[in-house]
Amino acid sequence: MSHLLIEGGRPLVGRHKVYGAKNAALPILAATVLARDTFEIENVPDLLDLKIMIAILHALGARVRREGTTLYVDTREIHRTEVPEELMGQMRSSLFLMGPLVARYREATLYRPGGCAIGTRRIDFHVEGLRRLGARVVEEGGRIEARALALRGATIVLPYPSVGATENLMMAAALAEGTTRIVNAAREPEIEDLGRFLNAMGARVYGAGEATIVVEGVRELRGTRHRVIPDRIVAGTFLFAAAITGGDVVLEDARPEHMEAVLDLLATSGAELEVGADTIRLRGKLPPRPLPRVVTAPHPGFPTDLQPQLVTYLTQSEGTSVVVETVFDGRFRHAEELVRMGAKIYVDQRTAVIEGPTRLKGERVRAYDLRGGAALVLAGLAAEGTTRVYGLTHIDRGYMRIEEELAALGASIRRVSATREEEAAG
Ligand code: EPU
Repeated sequence: MSHLLIEGGRPLVGRHKVYGAKNAALPILAATVLARDTFEIENVPDLLDLKIMIAILHALGARVRREGTTLYVDTREIHRTEVPEELMGQMRSSLFLMGPLVARYREATLYRPGGCAIGTRRIDFHVEGLRRLGARVVEEGGRIEARALALRGATIVLPYPSVGATENLMMAAALAEGTTRIVNAAREPEIEDLGRFLNAMGARVYGAGEATIVVEGVRELRGTRHRVIPDRIVAGTFLFAAAITGGDVVLEDARPEHMEAVLDLLATSGAELEVGADTIRLRGKLPPRPLPRVVTAPHPGFPTDLQPQLVTYLTQSEGTSVVVETVFDGRFRHAEELVRMGAKIYVDQRTAVIEGPTRLKGERVRAYDLRGGAALVLAGLAAEGTTRVYGLTHIDRGYMRIEEELAALGASIRRVSATREEEAAG
């Protein structure tokens, strides 16, 4: 089966250009459905999840053409409001179509979304929020139908600052009659980016990136041009890769202001950082200092999407570290694989205790989700001997040609493709 073959022990050195954020590009592409017009969206990474979103837009009747990192989207001939079940099952972000389709076409049919297995990922905030805006949402046997004669602005208090629900509701509210207030909204930079995009389409969104977002509905939205923000999680992953190998890496096209919690934590662990306007240089110092208690949290806290990479890094520190995962309830699968590589990690529900330093040993390991997969690649870079990381479809969802990007920094890593017989055997 396809896997990444890594010979560990080489420090990463060089420059890495950060590409556009998957998690910003996905809702932005869904938002194009809010207008019947043309769009130019720059800095869109060529990743599996984006391919699925593009396939969904095609299925609805939109045209999408890629030139390099720019997508040209034409939504003038959308004629369908049902997201194909097969595509829904491949990615959670397909849910982003619900708000825009109901807002623009008064109806949407979706199915239970798939996505990374990192815990119970409910959709109740999305559904309840749309109901508050006046939609009738019925779920039966995995089929979700949302309808509305007209959406009306309302105050929606989110029980938890969910990123996806905040985005879905912002998009729906953009075309609702009257004013919507989203209270306890998520504050991730991707939400700010979506707010900018919607406003460029003619929407009136105030406070995206703050805990209360106010959306004054407008009657119509139009096409626009937009550049997606850089991916702070990919940037963070490369910083951890530099740190765990004792390397010296400069990130270009980064947005340090989106990554303060991560940069603070890396500095506390002993890494040397030089932060410019859109560059970050990290010089790793091994062993890192242990971190007595890191708690993942919604932005501006330490992101759950870098928790697996952090856990891997802390296996190298001298002493005991504790990492508490508060965002998802099942996001420690990577720990079992790291233990197979020699790490001493004890997981109790949402808490991982990491005893370091351990000399990781090359192993055959499997990615069960995207960021957990990235963490195993990092472990392979730091390990003695040969590591083979399987489960690449997960990693390819969020990292573009990860082996080429890391090899360009001096890592010994390559993709070994499955033979036809192996593929056939599954
Ligand atoms: N939640 C509910 N009900 C809902 C929605 C969420 O209970 O209706 C719960 C979830 O179960 C979870 C918590 O709220 O425990 C937070 O989930 P959130 O909705 O914020 O996450 P998401 O929108 O599904 C996005 C990212 C994730 C990232 C999280 C948290 C996108 C496309 N995905 O997911 O990214 O981990 O926010 O920051 O933006 C990744 O890129 O690897 C990834 C998983």
